[in-house]
Amino acid sequence: MGEKHVVRFEPVGIEIDVEEEQNVLRAAAEQGITLMHGCKEGQCAACKSFVLEGEDIELDKYSTFALPDFELDEGFTLLCRAHVYEDVTIELLNYDEEMIRSGLPIQSAVATVVSNENVTHDLRHLVLSLPRGEEFRFFPGQYVDIGIPGTAATRSFSMANTSAKESGQLEFVIKCYPGGMFSEFLDTRLAVGDVLDITGPFGVFTLRDSPAELVFVGGGAGMAPILSVLRSLAERDPLRKATFYYGARAKRDLCFEPELRSLEQQLPNFSYVPALSEPVEGEQWDGEVGFVTDVVRKHETDLRRTDAYVCGPPPMVEAAITVLSDLGAPEQRIFYDKFTTTGESETTPATGRAST
Ligand SMILES: Cc1cc2nc3c(=O)[nH]c(=O)nc-3n(C[C@H](O)[C@H](O)[C@H](O)COP(=O)(O)OP(=O)(O)OC[C@H]3O[C@@H](n4cnc5c(N)ncnc54)[C@H](O)[C@@H]3O)c2cc1C
Ligand code: FES
Repeated sequence: MGEKHVVRFEPVGIEIDVEEEQNVLRAAAEQGITLMHGCKEGQCAACKSFVLEGEDIELDKYSTFALPDFELDEGFTLLCRAHVYEDVTIELLNYDEEMIRSGLPIQSAVATVVSNENVTHDLRHLVLSLPRGEEFRFFPGQYVDIGIPGTAATRSFSMANTSAKESGQLEFVIKCYPGGMFSEFLDTRLAVGDVLDITGPFGVFTLRDSPAELVFVGGGAGMAPILSVLRSLAERDPLRKATFYYGARAKRDLCFEPELRSLEQQLPNFSYVPALSEPVEGEQWDGEVGFVTDVVRKHETDLRRTDAYVCGPPPMVEAAITVLSDLGAPEQRIFYDKFTTTGESETTPATGRAST
């Protein structure tokens, strides 16, 4: 085990001890401090922060899209990649007072596949069962890392259910990509009764306590955490006004329609608005047509007092953030998870200190 150093976060005045082998984000999470994050792999920039004091910091491999060289030179860093070799002070650029001390313990478990069914031609509904009697707590909207059997690799997947307390189960909605390391395994090999290693929970895509109206924008497997949050809304706050815009290419890409329509019956102020960007000619469709972001722009006029939650592929998330901001949604009230991928991207090797 390497040496430990103190990392102080400003402006919140929290201090944690970080071992040299650990990245700062992980050390914080293990000490119950939830910092803003997304991919945990240097891809999404959600954990970007500014180094106020200290220089001896080494970064694991990251994408220069998340941290361009000029920002590194100015003193920015990625907490999910940063290892510290002296005491440092970090300014959090983006933090959430409500979340920061609400961290749940990170756990590992071996879960068993209960079902692995298609919900569309390329989306799977995977249900895992936790070992009997084992508690695995998470907030609706959070995710776990699932190990790919036979490899050291993991992939992140958001829970679609609200809790494992009674069922002992975790539910996921997973998109299958041809050649995808995890998803092809899921598509072609993973069977009922197989076991998977899971670690979590992670993520800050959780419903904040607020009376504000809600707008959800999702695409593809972004359905999973939004479904989890909507299911929790039905349990906790059924009168809150909420609209869920879901973007799909064609009718065959829509999933959980009966449940979403039944939520409209249960929640008097909830609407579900699916939008098809490439409807099949001749197929019956009375709903919205076009990119989901254009449909949001068409339906909404003033989001100044709205909390927005966005989840799905990074380009959709970025387009949605622009539209929501144009419509007045405050930047700090737009919560999102970008489903970044782990595959190779433009990366840069460690900087700031030679590897030890
Ligand atoms: C916080 C977080 C939560 C996530 N939650 C979910 C979830 O609930 N459900 C879910 O399905 N995914 C989710 N993801 C994405 C997931 O972790 C994987 O990245 C994804 O499933 C691809 O993994 P893979 O091993 O199948 O493909 P990889 O082996 O990583 O990629 C293999 C090939 O597939 C292509 N590919 C992979 N993803 C895409 C893409 N988005 N668009 C186009 N081509 C692609 C790659 O370019 C590559 O050529 C989440 C990601 C993050 C960061
Ligand atoms: S870059 Fe650090 S969490 Fe995504």
